[in-house]
Amino acid sequence: MACFGRSLDSPCTLALLVGFQFAFVLYFSLGGFRGLVSVLVHTTEPEFDYSRPHDVYTNLSLLGVPPPPPRNSGTGLPASGQPLKDCPIPSPLLVGPVSVHLSSPLSLEDIRQRNPLVLPGGRYRPPDCEPHHHTAIVVPFRNRISHLRSLLYHLHPFLQRQQIHYSIYIVQQWGNSTFNRAKLLNVGVREALKDEDWSCIFLHDVDLLPENDHNTYTCHKQFPTHLSVAMDKFRYRLPYPQYFGGVSAVTPDQYMKMNGFPNQYWGWGGEDDDIAARVRLSGMKIVRPPVAIGHYKMIKHKGDKGNEQNPRRFDLLKKTRLNWHSDGLNSLTYELLSKELEPLYTNLTVNIGEDPRLTQGKAHSAVKATPVHPHSSSKDKGPAKQVKSLEEAVAKNSTLVKPSGEKTGLILSKTANQTTQEKAGVMK
Ligand SMILES: *[C@@H]1O[C@H](CO)[C@@H](O)[C@H](O)[C@H]1NC(C)=O
Ligand SMILES: *[C@@H]1O[C@H](CO)[C@@H](O)[C@H](O)[C@H]1NC(C)=O
Ligand SMILES: *[C@@H]1O[C@H](CO)[C@@H](O)[C@H](O)[C@H]1NC(C)=O
Ligand SMILES: *[C@@H]1O[C@H](CO)[C@@H](O)[C@H](O)[C@H]1NC(C)=O
Ligand SMILES: *[C@@H]1O[C@H](CO)[C@@H](O)[C@H](O)[C@H]1NC(C)=O
Repeated sequence: MACFGRSLDSPCTLALLVGFQFAFVLYFSLGGFRGLVSVLVHTTEPEFDYSRPHDVYTNLSLLGVPPPPPRNSGTGLPASGQPLKDCPIPSPLLVGPVSVHLSSPLSLEDIRQRNPLVLPGGRYRPPDCEPHHHTAIVVPFRNRISHLRSLLYHLHPFLQRQQIHYSIYIVQQWGNSTFNRAKLLNVGVREALKDEDWSCIFLHDVDLLPENDHNTYTCHKQFPTHLSVAMDKFRYRLPYPQYFGGVSAVTPDQYMKMNGFPNQYWGWGGEDDDIAARVRLSGMKIVRPPVAIGHYKMIKHKGDKGNEQNPRRFDLLKKTRLNWHSDGLNSLTYELLSKELEPLYTNLTVNIGEDPRLTQGKAHSAVKATPVHPHSSSKDKGPAKQVKSLEEAVAKNSTLVKPSGEKTGLILSKTANQTTQEKAGVMK
């Protein structure tokens, strides 16, 4: 009451001024608007201490032992008729950040011994509870056996702690033609679904190791999931909003809806952006775990021979909108050469055909050995040369891709060279 109708120099006005000043100081010391909001609203972004990771085999000995087989029954069904109780969600075995060792993985036999509950084909099902999730992990592969060992060493205990039913499929491209990651993924999905009615399919690069077991290998019911949102290579940030590479997941329904993945991307790059475009074109969107959870480490390596940068990728991407109905799951052809149930993985070896560019270049390879045309060798010249350092260039450069403002602007390039960025204007 005493404050009404008084002049400016009243103690009341002064108190108000001081009060406002104090409020402003408080406001900025809390980190401005966002800070204030998070204090008031309790944002639910989880926090993890990555400086003190657990060993990736932590708690593994706690995994349930199978219930004793029924005494007088030869069938697989529990004679007692008691169904297993549902696995708890979240799994009580999770530990959060786990340490990732990138060097000198164990031998396959050592890894097998450390994962005694994993069955041939790289399968696992929690023995003492009924899992909610059934996940096939599909890994396109060629000539990266030490990466594969690191992945298996790491992923098996990681997934067992999540108490899901899973299997790991390696899809190995036979022959010497250019690597085709997306087509191998198509093959992996189709072959995996022949085995089992998987509810979720993971598309997993062989050189990416998850760092937090709260990043569960399960699918979102409605939308495709992108899991590797924070890779060390990109300084633990999403490199660009539409990024779908590394580790992602779809349900079989989502996969059908987008007509699978493209079959025409021979060589490095572009196919993951094509898949992201398919997600949007088929009326879905990409969902992601929080950055604090989606941490991954990438095993460093030089560019692979036979996986040169794909020079056609920008042209192909411009046509995704026209092509996605006709190129994909419905146009997939391949020959399954072998399927072997190894102790820690299923090895699918497939002939997916030849890169059309190489077939055209057969004439070149004929002359390759002769000294007359030294420049026709594509091995040391042209795109192949750039590729070798591409990933390293990207790794060193955090400014690599700037989303170009407008909503339709899909950044296609992953190179550090800004001049090679393009927008897929056609994908309105
Ligand atoms: C799993 O390991 C963590 C870290 O050692 C421990 O705190 C937790 O209690 C373990 N979980 C169970 C179910 O024992
Ligand atoms: C791939 O190349 C190697 C070495 O050049 C050769 O021995 C092998 O036969 C080739 N494989 C196929 C399937 O062409
Ligand atoms: C997969 O099987 C093929 C054919 O038997 C074999 O050549 C290849 O070495 C195997 N790859 C792995 C990673 O086990
Ligand atoms: C980027 O590419 C352009 C055109 O290919 C080239 O002229 C330029 O030197 C490149 N810049 C870098 C930094 O590589
Ligand atoms: C990163 O990319 C920017 C923009 O293309 C370039 O100017 C810079 O030199 C690059 N830095 C490194 C370390 O490659």
